[in-house]
Amino acid sequence: MIVLGIETSCDETGIALYHTEKGLLAHALHSQIKMHAEYGGVVPELASRDHIRRVLPLTESVLHEAGLTLHDIDAIAYTQGPGLAGALLVGTSVAESLAFTLNIPAIGVHHLEGHLLAPLLEESPPPFPFVALLVSGGHTQLMRVSGIGEYELLGDTLDDAAGEAFDKTAKLLGLPYPGGPAVSKLAEMGRPKSLKLPRPMLNSGDLNFSFSGLKTAVLTAANNSARDDVSKADIAHAFQEAVVEVLTAKCVSALEQYGLDRLIVSGGVGANKRLREALDLAAKKRGFAVFYPRLEFCTDNGAMIAFAGAMRLKNAAPGNHGFTVRPRWDLAELAAP
Ligand code: KG4
Ligand code: ZN
Repeated sequence: MIVLGIETSCDETGIALYHTEKGLLAHALHSQIKMHAEYGGVVPELASRDHIRRVLPLTESVLHEAGLTLHDIDAIAYTQGPGLAGALLVGTSVAESLAFTLNIPAIGVHHLEGHLLAPLLEESPPPFPFVALLVSGGHTQLMRVSGIGEYELLGDTLDDAAGEAFDKTAKLLGLPYPGGPAVSKLAEMGRPKSLKLPRPMLNSGDLNFSFSGLKTAVLTAANNSARDDVSKADIAHAFQEAVVEVLTAKCVSALEQYGLDRLIVSGGVGANKRLREALDLAAKKRGFAVFYPRLEFCTDNGAMIAFAGAMRLKNAAPGNHGFTVRPRWDLAELAAP
């Protein structure tokens, strides 16, 4: 079965073709980062309009790359939520109308399920069950994953998500949006141990997170520092160390508490080099295995949506091509296909 995946939930148009036996055939992405950068964050209306411009040309380009036509597609998977309502509507309406004309099934995919399953697109994917750390711009969650749609929430953020904390820290330091890559690049130039920031909830005894206090600590440090490049790099470094230490410690606790020895990491913050180093080191020390998506599939992309859709479509009944998006959608509401 060949599945076309369409992702338009936020500021990236991602399109991919996934073959259930041969794997990923082609994928393409258009990022709107440059367009939104001058506003310091995503402007929803601009995002929707840009998705409209990109979605069909990108679909044509992946079909061309795979040497296929629309008639070779067996099903279409699209991000139904959560995300920006207008942006979601673009992918949803294109997917449902294409599927209607081609007389093939279309399936709405949960964006976070896409992220969660992205590491399974790689060679030698882990078998179920495993612990998943989902760290994106909107979510910081630990989950026990026993199968497709079998997700038990073990821990969540009580306030800001890890990616959001990176983005807010970047703003405080005068760095461009999106903050994650900018902060981690600057952090490389920071002097280790020149500044220590708090490790929120490190010893809370549960698997929850909190990052808003860290943002306040960054603000205080920025106000008290010379505001030169060296001080900014030190703050970026200290901030990243604090986030990485908390994320790593909670992953280790989750694995220990649930007696599992496989961890997968997904979502935009999963691209963070320092986080990967710390998790790899912990894995070596404690004898667990850690799996990541390739860097380009940590952030939003069509491949993860095509893949998640393919996994669900194996057992799905044909839909009626209705139009609904779910801008707010709790992952815990999903059931197995
Ligand atoms: O998963 P994603 O593309 O979108 C959501 O579904 O939220 O994640 C985007 C988030 C942003 O907050 C961005 O700053 C962060 O991931 N991010 C990073 C890195 N690359 C992206 N955070 C830390 N280090 C990175 N290298
Ligand atoms: Zn995402």
